[in-house]
Amino acid sequence: MFNFKEELNKIKESGLYRKLLPVLSGSAPKIMVNGKEIIMLASNDYLGFCSHPEIKSKAQDAIEKWGAGSGAARLINGNLTLFDELEKRLAAFKKKEDALVFSTGYMANAGLLSALGTKESIIYSDELNHASIIDGCRLSRAKVKIYPHKDVKTLESFLGQDSGYQNRIIVTDGVFSMDGDLAPVPDLLLLAKKHDATLIIDDAHGTGAIGRSGKGTLEHFEIENSSRTIIMGTMGKAMGSFGAFVAGTKDLKKYLVNKSRSFIFTTALPPSVPAAAIQALNIIEKTPTIISSLKENASFMRKGLGTLGFNTLESETQIMPILIGRPSDTVNMAKELFDEGLFIQAIRPPTVPESSSRLRLTVMATHKKCDLEKALSVLEKTGKKFGII
Ligand SMILES: Cc1ncc(COP(=O)(O)O)c(C=O)c1O
Repeated sequence: MFNFKEELNKIKESGLYRKLLPVLSGSAPKIMVNGKEIIMLASNDYLGFCSHPEIKSKAQDAIEKWGAGSGAARLINGNLTLFDELEKRLAAFKKKEDALVFSTGYMANAGLLSALGTKESIIYSDELNHASIIDGCRLSRAKVKIYPHKDVKTLESFLGQDSGYQNRIIVTDGVFSMDGDLAPVPDLLLLAKKHDATLIIDDAHGTGAIGRSGKGTLEHFEIENSSRTIIMGTMGKAMGSFGAFVAGTKDLKKYLVNKSRSFIFTTALPPSVPAAAIQALNIIEKTPTIISSLKENASFMRKGLGTLGFNTLESETQIMPILIGRPSDTVNMAKELFDEGLFIQAIRPPTVPESSSRLRLTVMATHKKCDLEKALSVLEKTGKKFGII
């Protein structure tokens, strides 16, 4: 029989044991824990939309009108017209012909890569891609090659070696989720064109957060849309609710509806989710200042961390790693920061490579400058105590 205790002890001995933290209030820039105010620096709710009154109200209206659940999978009787409306809006937002909503980002990547990754395909995946991309590659029947992080030269040499594959797919996070750096999208797109490949960009952390109007990684690089790109995005991060989507051509959507198992064999999202997502898009489109607030807060924090001497790797976005190294030091520092009033998540292998355990700090558009200043002063004190700066 499986010996859970033994396996758990092994995880504990390696310093990689994880447990769930009780969080007693909804997402906000500051939360109350045991009567104490804690500044939240670990949320993907970048725009503060989880608690936006207009978004909550649209979700509530949808429950009243459509009910708490969708009743079945989209291909059975769960295809509420709300999904159609949302998919049209997402496609327009990402400047694509069409979009297909999935229940989660994990399922979108798994369903997209397994459907496109046929036996005749080869997938090239950045070594720091999100776990859902890695699992999507594993679920596919394609040959998979991992290229070093953002290493366009190695990728080009791989593409040159592999002839005889009908479909070539390059897949990358747009904004890397644990490093906050950006994929070299213009170079990847050039390679995709040269080698007749498809470029899939996971824009989970770019959607609603980067680019002039929050449209994501392609907008950030000012790349005109190309039919070679397929964009995956999530609605559970900057958009404040839940779920995900894949945006591309009309034929891609038709193909996924027929072939993507994580789309076909699962119950459609509850109606409150597409209703909340549509309202999130309305707000992003009518209030561009919210995107600039996020950018201002991110650059204030990144500069502050740099001045204090923290190593934030190559972060360019609202996600900032603070490199620590050993898992135990990282967990201890996160605990101390929590006691001092900051909620910052410790990230260890296998989420990040060995010896690169880190604190992952994220900022929100709704953080006040005074809270970010306070966070920097707590980080300075704790960083010195731990010998990190
Ligand atoms: C880059 C990236 N892709 C995909 C996902 C999965 O998205 P979801 O949380 O909607 O399953 C995440 C979530 O953390 C992510 O960071």
